Amino acid sequence: MPDQNTMHCIIRPMQSQDVLSIATWMVNVPLWQRYGMTLSQSESMLHKGLEANDWLFAADISSRLLNVGFAWAMPGGAFGRGAYLRLIGVHPEWAGVGIGGALLEAVETAAASRFRHIFLLVSDFNHEAQRFYQRHGYQQVGALNGFVLPEVIELLYWKRIPV
Ligand SMILES: CC(C)(COP(=O)(O)OP(=O)(O)OC[C@H]1O[C@@H](n2cnc3c(N)ncnc32)[C@H](O)[C@@H]1OP(=O)(O)O)[C@@H](O)C(=O)NCCC(=O)NCCS
Repeated sequence: MPDQNTMHCIIRPMQSQDVLSIATWMVNVPLWQRYGMTLSQSESMLHKGLEANDWLFAADISSRLLNVGFAWAMPGGAFGRGAYLRLIGVHPEWAGVGIGGALLEAVETAAASRFRHIFLLVSDFNHEAQRFYQRHGYQQVGALNGFVLPEVIELLYWKRIPV
């Protein structure tokens, strides 16, 4: 487990040269394996997000340890009134040391410049992520049965951005 006291995490805009490195570990995360995510799908999704000028962030630990986490949010992607956090992930070896929280904060700061709301979907079985979002002030406001995978309920979470 990395030492939280000495770890310094840098959040920066993602660039196209980061995509392959992120997509490579992303396809080994059990959550995205369950959704059948392939390397080419994850690469193409992230490139499309960059081309669309969505908000994509990458997390580094140092100049030699790049892309240990990422977040992708779509401005106006939620009912035209809020940002939609489409994906957030941290390399499994670096989970639980605050990188996800720092990425979420970067998304919220970007969103706060234009919107009062952030929405996201989280799988019903992903209890750790649900707890993570709740701890950051998100609440469940809906549920979409079989929206992506027939056997999974996608829980709709919402956070009102404080003025
Ligand atoms: C959910 C996720 C983004 C959180 O990032 P993180 O860097 O681990 O989060 P932080 O260190 O800032 O916060 C840790 C919190 O997340 C929870 N958590 C979620 N998944 C975890 C994991 N795999 N390992 C450790 N902690 C995890 C912890 O329980 C902790 O919550 P707590 O403080 O209430 O106990 C990250 O663990 C991840 O990428 N998970 C797999 C992909 C995923 O579920 N993405 C969200 C899809 S909606």
